[in-house]
Amino acid sequence: MGTGFFSSVDDVSAKLAEAGYLASTAVATTVFLADRLGKPLLVEGPAGVGKTELAKAVAAVSGSRLVRLQCYEGIDEARALYEWNHAKQLLRITAGREETWEDARTDIFGEEFLLRRPLLTAISGTEPTVLLIDETDKADMEVEGLLLEVLGDFQVTVPELGTITATREPFVVLTSNATRELSEALRRRCLFLHIDFPDEELERRIVRLKVPGVDAVLADSVVRVIAALRAMDLRKLPSVAETIDWARTLLELGAGTLDEQVVRESLGVVLKHQDDIVKAGAGLKLDQVLDAS
Ligand SMILES: Nc1ncnc2c1ncn2[C@@H]1O[C@H](COP(=O)(O)OP(=O)(O)OP(=O)(O)O)[C@@H](O)[C@H]1O
Ligand SMILES: [Mg+2]
Repeated sequence: MGTGFFSSVDDVSAKLAEAGYLASTAVATTVFLADRLGKPLLVEGPAGVGKTELAKAVAAVSGSRLVRLQCYEGIDEARALYEWNHAKQLLRITAGREETWEDARTDIFGEEFLLRRPLLTAISGTEPTVLLIDETDKADMEVEGLLLEVLGDFQVTVPELGTITATREPFVVLTSNATRELSEALRRRCLFLHIDFPDEELERRIVRLKVPGVDAVLADSVVRVIAALRAMDLRKLPSVAETIDWARTLLELGAGTLDEQVVRESLGVVLKHQDDIVKAGAGLKLDQVLDAS
C-alpha cells in the first residue's frame, strides 16, 4: 500500500521546495497522506494556483516518470486507455503471411499492435510513476466510469490479451477547475485537496524563489497589489502564474518600486480583460495598498 515517496509531512515540504514548489501545510499534509494510503489525490481550485505543477513536482522529487492524461471534451477510451494500431494491423494482414485467419488474428492482436495511452502506460512498467489526470472536469461524465475502474484496482482488461495488472501502483493526481461537478463515486475514491490562492507570506516566498532578482520590498508590493486585485470583482482574478510574470516584467522594466505609472503600464501582464483593467484602474488605491502594514 502506498507509493512510499515521503517519510513525513516535513519531508514532503522540504523535497517539493527543492524542486521549486512551495507547499502550504495543507498541501504537504495531503500529499503525504496520498503517498501513505496509496489513494489518488483530487486537487481542485482556480486556474493557476499550482495544481498541475504539484504533480510535476512530486514526479521530479521522487524520481518518477510523469505520465499525463490531458482531459478534454470528447476524450474517449481509445485516447485515455489504449487502442489498436489499425494501420499496422492492416498492413500485416495484407502482407498475408499467415496461413489461416486464426493465425492472423492471434498475430495482429498482440502487444506489438497495441497503442498504450496514458492510463495503460501508467500501470505498465516497473518504474515509479506519477499519473497526472489533468483537467478531469473537461472530460465527459462517462470517462469517470473508466477512471473509477482503472483507479479502483489498477488493472485493465484488454479482451484480446487478458488482464494487465500494475506491478507498481502509480501516485495519481487528478486536477479540476470545478467547471463541472465530478461524481460522488470518483470523489469517494480520492483524497480531496482544495488549493486556493496562497496567503501573502507564501506568495512572497514563491515570487522570491521564481524570480530571484526581485528584492523583498518589490516582492512584498507585488503580492499586496495582487491581493487587492483579487479582492475586486473581476472577470478573471490574477493567479500565481500572473504574480510571477508581473514580478519578472517589473524586473525587466528596471522598476525598483511600484508607482501608479509602472502599474498602469504593466497591468496587462496581470489582468487579461479590458473591463478588468478599467475596473482596476478606477478602483485600485495604490498608496493605501502599499501603506497598509
Ligand atoms: N506553490 C507554488 N510553488 C511554486 N510555484 C507555484 C506554486 N503555485 C503556483 N506556482 C506557479 O504557478 C504556475 C501555474 O501553476 P499551474 O500551471 O500548476 O496551475 P494550475 O493550477 O494547474 O492552473 P490551471 O487550472 O489553469 O491548469 C506554475 O508554473 C508555477 O510556476
Ligand atoms: Mg493545470
